[in-house]
Amino acid sequence: MSDYVYNLLKKHHSVRSFKKDPVSEESVKQLIEAGQSASTSSYLQAYSIIGIDDPEVKEDLKEVSGQPYVVENGYLLVFVMDYYRHAIVNENSKNDMSTSFESAEGLLVGTIDAALVAQNIATTAEDMGYGMVYLGSLRNDVERVREILELPEHTFPLFGMALGIPADNENGSPKPRLPIEHVFHQNKYNSDKEVQRRALSAYDQTVSKYYASRTNGERSETWSEQISNFMSAKQRLDMLEQLNKSGFIQK
Ligand SMILES: Cc1cc2nc3c(=O)[nH]c(=O)nc-3n(C[C@H](O)[C@H](O)[C@H](O)COP(=O)(O)O)c2cc1C
Repeated sequence: MSDYVYNLLKKHHSVRSFKKDPVSEESVKQLIEAGQSASTSSYLQAYSIIGIDDPEVKEDLKEVSGQPYVVENGYLLVFVMDYYRHAIVNENSKNDMSTSFESAEGLLVGTIDAALVAQNIATTAEDMGYGMVYLGSLRNDVERVREILELPEHTFPLFGMALGIPADNENGSPKPRLPIEHVFHQNKYNSDKEVQRRALSAYDQTVSKYYASRTNGERSETWSEQISNFMSAKQRLDMLEQLNKSGFIQK
């Protein structure tokens, strides 16, 4: 038994500072192929991946995201939930397939498919020596992203991924995750709030110390504080509207 993949995954940290070197065409092809090898619900393959090396397109997407590494990277990917091709099959089918992709289940299937593909790509890229960061920030303005990428109906831009060789001064490190007992339940869910609170409190201290050590004490918020700030910000409340406009969640 090998622990190679385990060790690779445990080393992961998001990289937000890249060298200018482009990711080679050969690497991009291998990454996409590795992504496509992920399992896919009912063989539907309900995703597309848009590879972007055009500086103007990157610049347009950066305006949506607000994050400099959308431009400053070796290559940019956008992961799209995609039922456009299924809709084409539907045009010539004796069956009506549309319920499948217009339903909430269709949304879950497409989103899960795209996430599995993306994580295969992330792991393969890290194994090749590249760094990566996901970009949910592209959902700041879904309509604009649809326009920039000329996305047709029955598609939806879910998130991006910036890739590249980590900059020499890139110094990220693996962030502590929730204790395993907190996320791993055996045979049934343990909803005992006291158990959950105790675990959270210990984790809060771990995260606070992690930030303090990485920022010379400038930052020391706990995980609970961080997620409380983030989750109370009421961001991107137009997602249902955007999904509806793109042909999703009609049923
Ligand atoms: C779907 C998704 C979207 C994300 N969007 C962004 C983003 O827009 N900008 C960013 O800097 N990081 C983004 N991240 C990275 C997370 O902030 C990061 O994974 C998390 O803080 C854990 O850190 P780590 O990846 O270094 O372990 C995203 C991650 C995921 C999975």
